[in-house]
Amino acid sequence: MTIADHRLPRTAIPSHYDLRIEPDLEALTFAGTVGIDIELVEPTDRIVLNAVDLTVVAASVSRDDRTWDADVSLDETHQRVILGLAETLHPGPGRVELSFSGELNDHLHGFYRATYKGEDGGDHVLATTQFESTDARRAFPCWDEPDLKATFSVTLVVAEGLEAVSNYHEVSRRRVDGERVEIRFATTMVMSTYLVAFVVGDLRATEPVDVDGVPLRVVHVPGKEHLTSYALEAGAAHLRYLQQYYGIPYPADKLDLIGIPDFTWGAMENLGAITFRESDLLIDPDLATQAELNRVADVIAHEIAHMWFGDLVTMTWWNGVWLNEAFATFMEAKAVDAYRPDWRRWLTFGLERSASMDIDALATTRPVEFPVESPEEANAMFDDLTYGKGASVVRMLEVYLGEDTFRRGVTDYLVSNAYGNSETADLWSALERVSGEPIGDIMHSWIFEGGHPLLVIERDGDGYSAEQHHFRYIGDGTTRWTVPTVYSTTGGVDRILLGTHTDFSAPGELVMNHGGQGFYRVQYDPELMADVAERLPELSAEEQYVIIDDAFALVLRGDLTSTRFLDLLPRLVHSDQPVVWSAMLRGLNELDRVVPSDVRPELQRFVRELVGVRIDELGWNPHGHESDLDRQLRGMLLHALGHLGAHHETVEAARDVFEQFSVNPEHIDNEIAAAAIALVAGHGDLDEFELFVDRYHGSISPQDRNRYLRAAVAIPHEDAAHSMLEMLADGRFRRQEATGVIARLLGHRDTGATSWRKVRDNWETMLSYPPPQNVRRILDLVHFRSEPDVAADIKRWVEANPIPGADKHVAQQLERLDVRVRFRERQQQLDQIP
Ligand code: BES
Ligand code: ZN
Repeated sequence: MTIADHRLPRTAIPSHYDLRIEPDLEALTFAGTVGIDIELVEPTDRIVLNAVDLTVVAASVSRDDRTWDADVSLDETHQRVILGLAETLHPGPGRVELSFSGELNDHLHGFYRATYKGEDGGDHVLATTQFESTDARRAFPCWDEPDLKATFSVTLVVAEGLEAVSNYHEVSRRRVDGERVEIRFATTMVMSTYLVAFVVGDLRATEPVDVDGVPLRVVHVPGKEHLTSYALEAGAAHLRYLQQYYGIPYPADKLDLIGIPDFTWGAMENLGAITFRESDLLIDPDLATQAELNRVADVIAHEIAHMWFGDLVTMTWWNGVWLNEAFATFMEAKAVDAYRPDWRRWLTFGLERSASMDIDALATTRPVEFPVESPEEANAMFDDLTYGKGASVVRMLEVYLGEDTFRRGVTDYLVSNAYGNSETADLWSALERVSGEPIGDIMHSWIFEGGHPLLVIERDGDGYSAEQHHFRYIGDGTTRWTVPTVYSTTGGVDRILLGTHTDFSAPGELVMNHGGQGFYRVQYDPELMADVAERLPELSAEEQYVIIDDAFALVLRGDLTSTRFLDLLPRLVHSDQPVVWSAMLRGLNELDRVVPSDVRPELQRFVRELVGVRIDELGWNPHGHESDLDRQLRGMLLHALGHLGAHHETVEAARDVFEQFSVNPEHIDNEIAAAAIALVAGHGDLDEFELFVDRYHGSISPQDRNRYLRAAVAIPHEDAAHSMLEMLADGRFRRQEATGVIARLLGHRDTGATSWRKVRDNWETMLSYPPPQNVRRILDLVHFRSEPDVAADIKRWVEANPIPGADKHVAQQLERLDVRVRFRERQQQLDQIP
């Protein structure tokens, strides 16, 4: 199929939709009508628009004062409905009317049903939408392409007693045929079809908070009002910040943040009606960990950032979806950094950058922007490269240009393209206008080529030389970049655009990637590295993070021994930053998965010594005026001590803590409680397994549910893993959890190999549990299955039994696995731990 097969003909262009939908939450169906104002661009006797899994009952087309009944045919392959007319209509304004019906599906896309247990213990249904990328056509016939923007007047007809929310505010309601209520919503601004949303059910909303004139609410199912205050607070802070940052008023007339009990993704940026997975919105700040609170703040910021970047200005086609997602990911960090500077959000961003570099260092990576055609291909764009690499290179550019210049460029871009569509080049030209620098040239290879550089730094007389390579874990690439770098020397901080080979004179001691925000790896010559290691404790946490992370990437590549990596760690033993510790623990964890079994106790001893020093400094219990990050670090280190350090007393202590917590949750510090649950799980058996599953089902707090679900999956017992898979089959877990559950089972250190065989032997069934849009992610932890025979089996099987629409993603996961198989192989020579 060519791109034309997936693009509608431009013979008719829609400008306005009058959409009326009547869902039946008992029969799990809906019926609707849509009237669409169009402009006929050329003479035609057929009108083609998108629809899939809908029954089109009738259709007509009007032009001037005449109306023709259309002959309706469906093209399932192309997800289209074709309206044939008896006469050729001449160009000019017209209107299409269609009536249709469909099912409220349970695949979490289109207009679908979500189910939840009510306060009465009974099962309840709500109907909601998820249209991005190409699923508006599952709810109503439409021109379902992002550049065909239109205004929408939505009317929902619902059973008495139910509520409905859509993109704009409600303008009227009246009773129709006795027991139904017709709710009409204000006409929206022009926007893309994938941003339309409506939610119907027994919904509750908080009182609106006025945020500089915009009413902000949290909407949820009954019984969750006590979990809304944090989202309101963070949402208000972000909305205020973003209006100021962009310098453009919020584009819609209200903003609802809606918690949906069944949801594929984290959240979705429907204009004015953002939908969320419950755990990414509803939270009890008194019982949550710092990471959980940060996550909710992140997701809210990300989606509100889209109201401008994505909703007001939209990519022309799905090849440009990185513009949306990378930028929202970048703004998410900025907004959260402004909201809670003490959380060091740009330091935490390093974790996202590393995750995307881990994919981008594969031969199977792809350019951030890439031609796409079919819906499957559009869906496959939503990955770590679009989000993490895209956001990282935007951040690198911001640091290089300076925050203020960059911000002015963004505003310029948004103002110039408001209510319209744009391409990558439009962003670069706006930034060129404000900075006078050749942004398009600098950015081209970062966006249109896969991979990233390794800068090899050598001392060269009084200065230094930087030689650029294309960093890959296996083999070498041939791409070269223009690298916007910032470096520091004893003389201060400077910036430079590095080419293939650059000599630069810099007085005194050098640190490349100053501030740690570049999207590249650095390898110092051994002598320089010794200097850098020496100064490691004095560098910023961001720099410490990238130095450890780069060192581990070189270990994975085989350019640095794990012993040299381990030698670096004690230098950072006093770090007070959880993210710096994450980099250290990540390396230790990867090693723990592959070292020979007789070396493992030595590695555990190394962990105990390292972590023990820091816990002694911190104290085992919270005290005085600790920061959120101190408390987070304590939890993290206790977990590491018990888990990677196999410290028996810590595990015993965790059991005690968990018992106390079960009686009196408020009396236990949240970070300690979370660490204790994870430790109990990691050393638990079938009794604990049952307990965690029960708690999962019994919890109201979405964070508790996540925690207990993860705990259940972590139990190192094959019968537990087996029960998890059976419970997935029985529908005892939500579809939205299936991807994560299967992925974690496959990655499990002790039971993963057995789970792999079960998953393999029931492949088709397993693939049917998760929502089809993210089933590919069941393989996200198979890189830990580096046991050579298991790895070979996984490769053979997955190559012969592809996951539909996931070729690239699967190839990447298999290559990551290959990287670890080689890594394991090299560690077999390891006989001593420092
Ligand atoms: N637009 C996406 C949601 C989405 C993802 C729709 C994939 C269709 C396909 C939304 O803005 C988003 O990026 N959500 C993230 C959360 C965010 C904090 C990174 C998600 O759902 O993971
Ligand atoms: Zn997004």
